Amino acid sequence: MLDFAYVNPTKILFGAGCIAKLGKEIPADAHVLVTYGGGSAERNGTLAEVEAALPGRRISRFGGIEPNPTYETLMRAVEQARRDGVDFLLAVGGGSVIDGTKFIAAAIPFEGEPWDILARQARVTRAVPLGVVLTLPATGSESNAFAVISRAATQDKLAFSTPKVFPRVAALDPARTLSLPERQVANGIVDAFVHVIEQYLTYPAEAPLQDRLAEGILLTLIEEGPKTLADPTAPGPRGSLMWCATLGLNGLIGAGVPQDWATHLIGHEITALTGLDHGRTLAIVLPALLDVRREAKRAKLIQFGKRVWGLSGDDDSVIDQAIARTRAFFESLGVATRLSAAGLAPDLVERIPERLTAHGLTALGERQDIGPDTVAEILRRAL
Ligand code: NZQ
Ligand code: ZN
Repeated sequence: MLDFAYVNPTKILFGAGCIAKLGKEIPADAHVLVTYGGGSAERNGTLAEVEAALPGRRISRFGGIEPNPTYETLMRAVEQARRDGVDFLLAVGGGSVIDGTKFIAAAIPFEGEPWDILARQARVTRAVPLGVVLTLPATGSESNAFAVISRAATQDKLAFSTPKVFPRVAALDPARTLSLPERQVANGIVDAFVHVIEQYLTYPAEAPLQDRLAEGILLTLIEEGPKTLADPTAPGPRGSLMWCATLGLNGLIGAGVPQDWATHLIGHEITALTGLDHGRTLAIVLPALLDVRREAKRAKLIQFGKRVWGLSGDDDSVIDQAIARTRAFFESLGVATRLSAAGLAPDLVERIPERLTAHGLTALGERQDIGPDTVAEILRRAL
């Protein structure tokens, strides 16, 4: 096992009625900026429930944070928050609203150009405290230190990470996800699945507990994910999906093990150029990446095939079938696994490696040996 330090300070409130408990977690004299997206939280009553939980606080709103939140939109929130003297942020939404709110939190006290937090990885020394009401299980952003922000003008989509933006509290009420369109539920299952894969399917590192935790989440997603689509009114499977997504990227399963993240970095560039949903980019890249990287990942691919997909037989056929079953799982959720099936142009095979190179991302993967040529090979196999 590799050496590690692990801390996750986010307090999770889970279950029906957990939003009402937020009042105890947010200072009574806070001026709270409630941030949200394109209106789903307003339409389905989540926003009203949130505000009812915060009696006595001064509350402002900032809506319109778009999927793949942009610097341009978020800077308007930063201006509003600075002007109003906001001292607590409460994100109500999915990964985009939460990530956007993390950026707002870091940008408000930042001296200088906040885009540097992304483009130059400028150090964040202070951030406004934030909380989360999660409405879309997928990213794990509700209890991690990451955020991914886009800049529309330049088609950049870049990540930053700092412990300063860990949410203080996150309310996870599965009932608040029941209004999700099928497409978003499917995206979330794929995203959570791939987060686990990025931290598990690398090379053996004498970390059997992390392996079993990862396999437990993968098996649960395979079992419960389809149930959430088959019966969109059932809160039980939604609750399992929510907890899988949170544990998939809250630092626990990744502590002490090598991590890959090439699928994500390639996927972010695809979204930046085409606007395709985050989860959908991963479903296209991952099966092709596993195929190209089958020797580098050989031992873990066999383990994954046997323990997660229940396969047996000779090693090469287990690997072939493990990749095929993963692809079929994504397809069964209604998520395309080919660039062509998603309606994307083949010139991405050349454009994505160029964009990664421009962003200095030329040594990807758990052994930092995936360069632009290998990325092109992966995308060719995803055509
Ligand atoms: O904007 P509204 O109207 O709320 O609609 C949203 C949005 O259109 C809708 N939605 C959310 N909750 C709903 C709902 N509609 C009905 N009922 C509800 N309960 O869903 C749409 C998509 O929302 P979005 O937040 O964009 O989805 P997701 O949670 O998948 O987040 C994706 C973003 O997170 C980043 C991605 O790159 C992408 O920008 N990621 C963040 C990570 C992190 N912070 O750790 C890791 C991930 O790998 C990922 O990169
Ligand atoms: Zn993701």
